[in-house]
Amino acid sequence: MSGRLYALGTGPGASDLITVRAARIIAKLDVLYAPAGRKGGDSLALSIVREYLSETTEIRTCHFPMSADNDEKAVVWDETAAALTHEVEQGKQVGFITLGDSMLFSTWVFLLARIGNPEWLEIVPGVTSFAAIASRAQLPLAMEQQSLAVMSCTASHQALSEALRAHDCVVLMKVYGRFAQIKALLQHLGIIQHSVLMAEATLPGEQCWRNLEEVPDDQKLPYFSTILVNKQWRG
Ligand SMILES: C[S@@+](CC[C@H](N)C(=O)[O-])C[C@H]1O[C@@H](n2cnc3c(N)ncnc32)[C@H](O)[C@@H]1O
Repeated sequence: MSGRLYALGTGPGASDLITVRAARIIAKLDVLYAPAGRKGGDSLALSIVREYLSETTEIRTCHFPMSADNDEKAVVWDETAAALTHEVEQGKQVGFITLGDSMLFSTWVFLLARIGNPEWLEIVPGVTSFAAIASRAQLPLAMEQQSLAVMSCTASHQALSEALRAHDCVVLMKVYGRFAQIKALLQHLGIIQHSVLMAEATLPGEQCWRNLEEVPDDQKLPYFSTILVNKQWRG
């Protein structure tokens, strides 16, 4: 069999929110690359897919530094893209898993930029975290003529403010470490009562705050925390 590479979205956390297609592919992999948050640490993505893995699949956990140094990060992306390509050239069925969907705010996209679009590559979509959060919080994303923006809270204050003014619904990802500033912005724009904060959606530690005014500025939040704003919904 000729080698293939599959980029697979695992979904937001619950292992039964992975697609049937991804689970079937995972079951026949020779090698699986799983990103871990810390060097030598556990991979949440791996824990999600573990039940679908064959005993013969080799696991390679990889760590992508979060440093501000782009050169340091580029070295790891170059090495990982080269390693994936090399495994495929050896005729292996290779998987690379990412949380949620692999085409949204994902390290996979840096690898894709290096690998290109060879015929041996297949990207399998996953349920994004914000789709899962909308469902869990029963807060719709957008309807009819409404608009939806997906922003990272690492964006500038001005960009976030403009998106929140312009769109009916805004997903604010990467709230971790920035909650106080985002809360102040939502208060300033008078839309805090239209906002829901969710941490670890669909995971055992899932938490949902519907009244953000009551959430202390220094509330400890996990990395997997997202705010959904829908100015139009009167649920
Ligand atoms: C690097 S991005 C990954 C996004 C992912 N590719 C997706 O499709 O949702 C990480 C951010 O996604 C959001 N996130 C991912 N999983 C989440 C979850 N289970 N609950 C809440 N937010 C989540 C958080 O905002 C987190 O900071």
